[in-house]
Amino acid sequence: MKRPIAYIAGTGRGIPAHVMTNHDFAAIGIETSHEWIVERSGIHERHIAKTETACSMGAEASRQAMQRAGVDAGEIDVIVVSTATPDRLLPATAVDLQAELGASRAAAFDVSAACSGWLYALTVAEGMIMSGVGETILVVAAEKLSAITAWTDRSTCVLFGDGAGAVVLKRSQGRHAGHGILSAYMRSDGTLAELLYRPNGGATTPFSAEVLADRSHYVKMAGREVFKHAVRSMADAADRALDGAKLTGNDIDLLIPHQANVRIIEATAKHANIPMDKVYVNVDRYGNTSSASIPIALDEVIRSGRAHEGSKILMVAFGAGFTWASMVVRL
Ligand code: UT7
Repeated sequence: MKRPIAYIAGTGRGIPAHVMTNHDFAAIGIETSHEWIVERSGIHERHIAKTETACSMGAEASRQAMQRAGVDAGEIDVIVVSTATPDRLLPATAVDLQAELGASRAAAFDVSAACSGWLYALTVAEGMIMSGVGETILVVAAEKLSAITAWTDRSTCVLFGDGAGAVVLKRSQGRHAGHGILSAYMRSDGTLAELLYRPNGGATTPFSAEVLADRSHYVKMAGREVFKHAVRSMADAADRALDGAKLTGNDIDLLIPHQANVRIIEATAKHANIPMDKVYVNVDRYGNTSSASIPIALDEVIRSGRAHEGSKILMVAFGAGFTWASMVVRL
């Protein structure tokens, strides 16, 4: 096992106030039922941003993370934001967040790797600490899936939610030597991109009256296909991160999987030989918040006392691209 280079010094989350339950879909004319959504996905409700933005939710999460890490905005060297739903197409949401926080010394940029994006961002940030680019890095995931969801497509609109999570990553030294990222793994398969994507609205086929009329700028997903790949890839990713840390499922205190579907979560846990009482599930309350799902869950387990200094946590994600990633951290 490698000596950890970077550890999580503080966490936070920013959740929109408005809660939409499964029963609320009837009011917007979606033919579905609470029973169908719960049985197929495990989702009961989700938070939907009304006035909040990726930046404002990310700022709330970041302020909590900085406060808990004992770090001022002026001490942040780099801000990395994972988002598939940037507030604007240009510039990056990370620079809006930098301005909002007053982190004037920081370099700021976005990472785009869909639901795996926050683990990708954390791995990039660890590399920057290793190479000496920075010592104190804010790693944020901020997602407003409700803005890219077709609210007429029942196969996707019942699944997603909005929210943000953040951590402050610092060099593992002094009292924190031995704490931090024990292993990390990332993979992608671009040959399968069109199973989960937004067909139009990018630079190849920019927004036009036609694109808006056929609603092809919204997310399209081949759910059943994505499900199969998610189960396979998350199992592979769990193995790789455990191998990298020279650990087995028995050594893990908590599994935090990407929260897309409780059936995918159960399959991942079973494969990694981790009992469900060591698996954190909050998809019932948030739906799929893409890359924000793991940092939101991480903040919840720390705030509730379910994880604490020394806990070994396995995190595993899968999303559009396809991308998949995993990490073992010792808090
Ligand atoms: O975030 C990372 C990537 N995303 C995921 O990991 C999501 C992966 N996929 C899934 O979680 C599941 O495939 C879903 C939850 C999206 C769907 O569950 P499923 O068991 O795969 O259902 P299905 O797509 O095969 O649909 C079954 C039926 C269809 O009807 P027919 O063709 O069998 O008559 C759908 O039309 O359910 C119907 N259906 C619905 N019924 C009621 C689809 N959406 C709904 C709905 N309410 N909202």
